[in-house]
Formats: sequence, C-alpha cells, structure tokens
Amino acid sequence: MVSRLRPVGFWGTGSYLPEKVLSNRELETIVNTSDEWIINRTGIRERRQAAVDQATSDLAVAAGRQALAMAGVAAEDVDLVIVATCTPDAVLPATACVVAHRLGAVKAAAFDLAAACTGFVYGTAVGAQFVATGVYDKVLVIGAEVLTRVVDYTDRNTCVLFGDGAGAALLGPVAGDGGIKAVYLRADGAGDHLLQIPAGGSRLPADHTTVEQRLHFLQMNGREVFRFAVKIMAEAARQVAFQAGWQQTDIQFLVPHQANQRIIDAAIRKLGINREQVVINLERYGNISAASVPVALDEAVRAGRIREGDRVVLVGFGSGLTWGSLALQWAGSPLYS
Ligand code: UT7
Repeated sequence: MVSRLRPVGFWGTGSYLPEKVLSNRELETIVNTSDEWIINRTGIRERRQAAVDQATSDLAVAAGRQALAMAGVAAEDVDLVIVATCTPDAVLPATACVVAHRLGAVKAAAFDLAAACTGFVYGTAVGAQFVATGVYDKVLVIGAEVLTRVVDYTDRNTCVLFGDGAGAALLGPVAGDGGIKAVYLRADGAGDHLLQIPAGGSRLPADHTTVEQRLHFLQMNGREVFRFAVKIMAEAARQVAFQAGWQQTDIQFLVPHQANQRIIDAAIRKLGINREQVVINLERYGNISAASVPVALDEAVRAGRIREGDRVVLVGFGSGLTWGSLALQWAGSPLYS
C-alpha cells in the first residue's frame, strides 16, 4: 500500500502535424462554403490532412518520439502508453498497442481511451494516477486523430471544422511543489446524439445501407454543442482552479480545446483573463479533437511561453458528452531518469 501520493509532472511534450495543408479556399471547391464564413464563425483558416498512407498510429508515434526525446527517456523504459482517440487505426486492436510496439516500448502496458475531444485531459488524469501511486514511473499519454477520414465532405456544417494531428506528453514523478494539482472530469450521456458517428459499432453494424446513408461519418448538432461548450469551458476552468486551492486570478495560462474561437472568447470574458494568457492555434489546425490540447500545450512549451512554476489550466470538452480540466503547476524536470 502506498501511503503518500507523488507529485506528477510533464517530463516532455511532443506533437506531429501532417504536412498537407487543407485551406478554407480548397474547401470552397468541395462544399458550398466560403473562407469568410469559416473565419468569421470559427476562426479557422486552415487544417492539416494526413497522407493516404498515414493512420492515427503513425501520427501518434511521431508525437510520442518527440515527447520522449524532450524528456531524455528511452522508449524501452516507458511503463504505460495511453492513446486517446476517436479515430483509432481499427476497432481492434487498440491503437496504443500498435504505437507502443512501433516506439519500442517493449515493457509497456497499452490501452486506448475514448473520451473524444476531452481524451487528452481524461488520459492525463488516468495516467497520472499510476505515477502518483508509485505503480509506474513513466507514462506516455498521446492524443491522436485522423478526423478527415470520418468527416463527411458533403456536410458543410462539420467538414470545415476538423483536421488531423497528434500531441503527446510523458508523465513522471517530480520533485518540489510542481505538478498536477487538481483534476475535474465530467460526462453526460444524455447528450450522446449531439456529436456522434452512428454506424460501425454493435448498435448499427456496418452493412451496405449504413454506408449508403453515410452513417459512418461524424454528425453534429453544432448549435447545441456550441451552447454546451460556452457554458462549461469557463466553469470547468474555474472549478479545477478552486480544487487546486487557487483563485481564478491565479491562472496564468489556459490551454483550451480548440473548437471555435467564439467559444474560447466567451471563456476569456467569463474568466476575466487576457487573450495573451490563452494558448490558441485553431486558425492553423482547426479542431483536432483529442490532439488539440496536447498540440497547443507542446507549442507553448517549446516556444518558452509556459515555464517551470507557471500555473496552467487545461480544458477539454466534446462527444459523450464529456468535459474536464486539469490544474497544474508546470514542472518538467525529471526526478529520476
Ligand atoms: O470538438 C467538439 C466540439 N465541436 C464544437 O465545439 C462545435 C461547436 N459548434 C460550433 O462551433 C458552431 O455551432 C458551428 C461553427 C458548427 C456553426 O456555427 P453557428 O454560428 O452555430 O452556425 P449555425 O449552425 O447556426 O448556422 C448558421 C448558418 C446556417 O444557414 P441558415 O440556416 O441560417 O441559412 C448554416 O446552414 O450558416 C450555415 N452554415 C454555413 N455556411 C457556410 C453552416 N456551415 C456553413 C459553412 N459555410 N461551412
């Protein structure tokens, strides 16, 4: 029995975005939309699209390698790989097993985690428990998606929003006062129909009618999800800050799920923080679901924006419905290596 929990920090972060840029102008040639509408209603200018021979595990491996390199940890020393995704390579096996194998994480346990766009927040919360309790020392959490494979390019309500990418973090024990301070996770299945891929599971197995009816593509009630997101983003940030023993004004950086600039702006207003304190990259990548928070986090860490000791809140929300947040005092330096 472990009597005292260990503080858990981010030893390294990484990200990978496919090379191909899919611009708003290109989308104008595919559906009835405009660059102006997309920018005004969402803030997105372009997104990335995986090459035809790239699947989610390929993106995840590239991001995972970067996180391990930043941490200075060899793949064979990783204890657990968690891949948060709603676009796994296949229904079976778990993408995390493929990723662990390809990384060379030969002694690691591996599983996928399904919490859609909240996946990285959920995955980090789960992975951190293993480190805090002393069960594992090095946990690699990856959010990775190839959403362009499940987006319906005949549906302008959704196809302009999503892109592909992967972000990763290596969690480990840290010395001192830093690390993850509080976790806030929520779910409400009453909203299951608001953002879904109806077919391809046990409820509606794949057959020719489900394919003809395009039920293997993502469907969303944008207005309802928007309303939900505006309500919970500031609430989740505030809640986790209080759990961490912080005042709202103690939050130095907010790393939100990148779905819509207007959702982020509403959170900025409600929280009374400056735009400079919010990490935003959705104009370049659109919504990359579980990859959105870790890619933004990695960019902010590599740019030197987030530094040792900074008080950071991560917030995610998405299909499920799921939502959640993490409060952490940035601590990247390994206690053990
Ligand atoms: O990560 C998971 C979470 N997902 C989200 O957070 C998405 C949340 N929702 C949103 O971000 C917004 O609801 C959208 C960006 C999806 C839509 O923006 P909106 O301001 O809520 O637009 P709307 O759905 O109310 O549609 C307004 C109009 C409609 O036309 P009519 O009925 O007023 O004539 C739509 O048909 O805009 C039309 N429209 C478009 N027009 C041009 C919808 N999509 C497009 C488009 N281009 N791509």
